[in-house]
Amino acid sequence: MKLGLLARLRCPKSGQPLSLELATATQSAGGEINSGWLVSADGQHRYPIRGGIPRFVPESNYADNFGMQWNHFAKTQFDSHSGHPISAERFWKATAWRPEDLRRKWVLDVGCGSGRFAEVALAAGAHVVALDYSSAVDACYANLKHHPDLHVVQGDIMQFPFRRATFDRVYSIGALHHTPDTEQAFHSTTALLKPGGRVSIWVYHTWCGPDLHGLRAVHARLKGWISDTLRRITTKLPNPVLRGLCYLVVPLGACQRAILGSPAPIRALLSPLLLVFCSTHPRWRVRVCDTFDWYSPQYQHRHTVEQVQSWFRSAGLTEISTAGFPVTVRGRRPPALSGRPLRQHARRRARGRALQGRGRKAALAQGREARSRAAGGGVVRTSSLIFRARTPSRAHRPARRAPARSALPGAEGRSRTEARAALRPRWPRARRQIRRARRAW
Ligand SMILES: C[S@@+](CC[C@H](N)C(=O)[O-])C[C@H]1O[C@@H](n2cnc3c(N)ncnc32)[C@H](O)[C@@H]1O
Repeated sequence: MKLGLLARLRCPKSGQPLSLELATATQSAGGEINSGWLVSADGQHRYPIRGGIPRFVPESNYADNFGMQWNHFAKTQFDSHSGHPISAERFWKATAWRPEDLRRKWVLDVGCGSGRFAEVALAAGAHVVALDYSSAVDACYANLKHHPDLHVVQGDIMQFPFRRATFDRVYSIGALHHTPDTEQAFHSTTALLKPGGRVSIWVYHTWCGPDLHGLRAVHARLKGWISDTLRRITTKLPNPVLRGLCYLVVPLGACQRAILGSPAPIRALLSPLLLVFCSTHPRWRVRVCDTFDWYSPQYQHRHTVEQVQSWFRSAGLTEISTAGFPVTVRGRRPPALSGRPLRQHARRRARGRALQGRGRKAALAQGREARSRAAGGGVVRTSSLIFRARTPSRAHRPARRAPARSALPGAEGRSRTEARAALRPRWPRARRQIRRARRAW
């Protein structure tokens, strides 16, 4: 763990800042904190740093299958290992960001796995924080620890160990739907965005979208049903047994790939063979990894584009767009207000406060009421706070001109102005109230 990360970390339980317990900390040759403890400001919660990674979740959890998967296939999908820019292409297509957008920016990889997309963001010059729930973080750290801008954290999307509004960019490719609640995971993720920051997510789509009709729709529904039924069994199998079975179905993946590439009549004839889900990736090792990734997770939710877009809207995100492959949705947190918009914002907030019974408007309304009463009129209450002065009836209106000096009680020796002032004794008080309220605002 690099010390530079500490300021961005928070206790996931209390939200308090964390400090490093110096007595227990050990440093690696590269200057990273290799082991030790992070302690919350009130000393109530302690989190270990093990193998250079701060750990905020139990060692064994519902994502153990992913831990095994990404430690076994640690480099299988790495572009630098395979020599094909498959992960890079997918990353730029999903996010629609440009490499220059990421330079020196703080970027969060949510559900990083072994770090294939973190590698792409690091190459673009970003400070990448790669977070995962499972021991996949160990594979990620081993793959990329030589990189000076990488930070790896073992934590939970539902209870991030980060300060709010910490990241310029956040992406999650294929992770949110593997949590107990995709929508909740999404909202938890967007809370980490700085104003003006951008987010991009990819989640599984439903088996049968509105674009599928007739036999295709029946085929998709049936395939979904078979997959769900098989998953009910496979998710209960020990992970090593399931991984062995996934090696065995490698030929089925090759067969399905051949069918998909054949002319339409042959494809239609052999389509029953496509009913059992199996990865059809051209590289056999990726096929094993992807098939295990399909049949092992405890949670696997599916969503429509419309549903995910509605989450973006409800999170207050703007510039919402989708990519060609469903369900990929991107958005932006509105930038912070500054200059003129900020003043308008302050005025709007003040108006809001006044409606809650505080602030300038409330004081002005009181002043208006006082003036109206002083002038002999009544007040009409149009809302809990807004008073409108009612013109006093002719009978109650004070004389427009001050009466003759002689008509006033004890008027001898008073000037005309003094006599007028005597006729409106409450006005200065109301003015003082208004002035005071303005100053306070
Ligand atoms: C299908 S993998 C995707 C990994 C990586 N994004 C990729 O595409 O190579 C899903 C990842 O989400 C992680 N995950 C699941 N639930 C999580 C949670 N609550 N918090 C953080 N990560 C979680 C899993 O551990 C797993 O590594």
